[in-house]
Amino acid sequence: MAIQISHRAKAIKPSPTLTVSTIATRLKAQGIDVINFGVGEPDFETPIQVRNAAHKAIDENFTKYTESSGILELREAISAKLLRDNNLKCDPNDILVSPGAKASITFLLMTICDPRDEVLIPSPYWVSYTSQVEMVDAFPILLPTRAASKFKISAEQLDEVLQSLSNPKALILNSPNNPTGSIYNKKELEKIAEVCLKHNIVIISDEIYEKLIYDGREHVSIASISEEVRDHTILINGVSKAYAMTGWRLGYAAGPRDIIKSAARIQSHTTSCVNSITQKAAIVALQDCDENVNKMRDEFQRRRNFLTEGLNDIPNLKCRLPKGAFYVMPNVSFYIHNNKVGVRNSRELCEYILEKHRVALVPGSAFGAEKYVRFSYATSMENIEEGLKRFKTALATSVR
Ligand SMILES: Cc1ncc(COP(=O)(O)O)c(C=O)c1O
Repeated sequence: MAIQISHRAKAIKPSPTLTVSTIATRLKAQGIDVINFGVGEPDFETPIQVRNAAHKAIDENFTKYTESSGILELREAISAKLLRDNNLKCDPNDILVSPGAKASITFLLMTICDPRDEVLIPSPYWVSYTSQVEMVDAFPILLPTRAASKFKISAEQLDEVLQSLSNPKALILNSPNNPTGSIYNKKELEKIAEVCLKHNIVIISDEIYEKLIYDGREHVSIASISEEVRDHTILINGVSKAYAMTGWRLGYAAGPRDIIKSAARIQSHTTSCVNSITQKAAIVALQDCDENVNKMRDEFQRRRNFLTEGLNDIPNLKCRLPKGAFYVMPNVSFYIHNNKVGVRNSRELCEYILEKHRVALVPGSAFGAEKYVRFSYATSMENIEEGLKRFKTALATSVR
């Protein structure tokens, strides 16, 4: 008799962004020239000083299990970073280092959610949030946003939805946002925080794109608004995006001690600890890479400007200039509704463009944004130029 798969595993869909990347990589391996706008990882090298620190850790045989929550030296470096960058006083004992921010969010949701709890997620949203909430048998409650409101929720909207729920537990806020690139300013965060306090819900603040904000704007962490807000917030961050370290796997959570300690117990029985070598390397990333980060950010900004301008030159296509992260999300509804190639939705449009024009994009449906497609500009300027040309041709030749 076949082994039964659990209802939990059956309910989880594959990550659409990883699926697109896998198809693009497979086509490339077959010698097919694909321009891949699917991946959410910087194409830059990990800074040399970080790599050197990893070599040193190996040479010094720093290769064993570490304390499950992360080595103290690293948690101290994170604590110093939170004070320096986010004006947050956070004791190293209130920090949990995990194998990626993805793992941090999962462990924290396991820690705070009971079955049937409701977790609010502004939409469009990062693909993994809904699955992560479902994996702990809680319900994702989507809060729709509109381009006209810069894809941001308002405090009034949040308050109204919270009044209608029976078991609201948490809000996952992601600023800068994947996929929209929107960022929340201090005033907006203050109002949102006030509503969260009123309803006593936990704020999970995913700040993984903190360092990738453009035009001189500044990141504000919602946890820094007041001590009361900080006590209701679990801040999530990591080294993947800012330091081009996606494959090293290190993220962290900072929050109220009892929550962090409980999450650490879950981690100790699952992943044990983050790779010891990565932990040593991450200390250098946090302490000694400002210049590298600034260079990468400036290059991302150049690409963002070029790509957004190019997209807005396409007839019947609208695209907001994102303020942060490394994604652009044009509205392609005209091309979904007026095509002659049998496309009915954003997924089919992306399939058509990949198959016929060799450009990999992620359909907006993956993020709860059916009228859109997502470009990641974490790829070279040459790829962006060529990919944009192909995309223009694909759209032009697909309409009636
Ligand atoms: C919004 C958001 N949060 C978290 C992550 C996960 O990052 P990590 O590589 O640290 O697991 C990603 C990665 O794409 C992301 O886009």
